[in-house]
Amino acid sequence: MKYRELGRTGWKVSEISFGAWAIGGAWGNVDDKESLAALHAALDGGVNFFDTADVYGDGHSERLMAKLRQERKEKFYIATKAGRRLPQQTPEGYSRKNLTAWVERNLKNLDTDAIDLLQLHCPPTGVFYMPEVFGILDDLVKAGKLRHYGVSVEKVEEALKAIEFPNVQTIQIIFNIFRQRPAELFFPEAQRRKVGILARVPLASGLLSGKITRASKFAKDDHRNFNRHGEAFDRGETFSGVDFETGLKAVEELKALAPAGASLAQLALRWILEFPAVTCAIPGAKRPAQVAENIAASDLLPLSKATLKKIDALYDAQIKPLVHQYW
Ligand SMILES: NC(=O)c1ccc[n+]([C@@H]2O[C@H](COP(=O)([O-])OP(=O)(O)OC[C@H]3O[C@@H](n4cnc5c(N)ncnc54)[C@H](OP(=O)(O)O)[C@@H]3O)[C@@H](O)[C@H]2O)c1
Repeated sequence: MKYRELGRTGWKVSEISFGAWAIGGAWGNVDDKESLAALHAALDGGVNFFDTADVYGDGHSERLMAKLRQERKEKFYIATKAGRRLPQQTPEGYSRKNLTAWVERNLKNLDTDAIDLLQLHCPPTGVFYMPEVFGILDDLVKAGKLRHYGVSVEKVEEALKAIEFPNVQTIQIIFNIFRQRPAELFFPEAQRRKVGILARVPLASGLLSGKITRASKFAKDDHRNFNRHGEAFDRGETFSGVDFETGLKAVEELKALAPAGASLAQLALRWILEFPAVTCAIPGAKRPAQVAENIAASDLLPLSKATLKKIDALYDAQIKPLVHQYW
């Protein structure tokens, strides 16, 4: 495992980290024993950074993280999120009272006195124009409840606005072979300001692992079944916003580009690591074997120029028109 500096925090985090949404909920059945085994496998493989949220299984994912802390002695960082407990996403909901109550709940679920990194969880665009919200986060840092804070965003424009607030340490954004726009304007600006970047949905919800086919069935409570067209939340969070058929076709072509001995999931993760602005990718995983496969992407050699060119050409021709200007 290789490590990269996270913004100005002074932390060095694993370039392949762990996304803990799937072990919380909205991805079909989960087995806590297996989820915990996956978390342990991540630590065993050198992962030292985990991303969760208060709403993943209504705190279930955070509580699994707390269990991991009890069961392991080594130092690791937990990033969590707050904001999506609002019944409706309104900027006014991001009040001092609500933010403080959400953070108290994060602390309780995580069984800790201070949160390593709290991220606003894809707040409505209006929040990025409310400096007082960031002032409340500063106060929570002063009070010792948060060590650092950042923002998880939907759009590049929100990311650019968020990093104008000087104490925003991290931006979490969808970035993968099927979602390349963040690299254009946002990455250089984040690097200039030394803001960490967490690349989420790195496998396009599993599509970029190459294992999903037309015949794949997803459980009723799996967002790959119920949110394909954005029925429950932003459609970009499911398969990265790429139409299923188009995605499957592109994936078939990508398979031929995986380096010898590497899987398509590993190619997808290695592609993300080619960008020095990215601090880490946070692939979700439910099983130890997936974790091991994902972690091994950190050991792959950089991709060849020819491979990168082919990936760019495929994105430009098949994917870009569907996603580029939407987020
Ligand atoms: N709004 C936000 O802030 C937000 C939104 C989305 C995600 N996130 C964060 O980003 C993390 C990553 O995104 P994501 O989990 O949505 O999507 P992802 O990482 O692109 O896909 C994860 C899913 O792909 C499958 N998978 C993982 N490794 C695999 C492998 N090696 N081979 C085959 N399949 C594999 C697993 O699902 P199956 O085994 O069930 O197929 C896994 O749950 C989340 O866990 C969460 O922490 C945040």
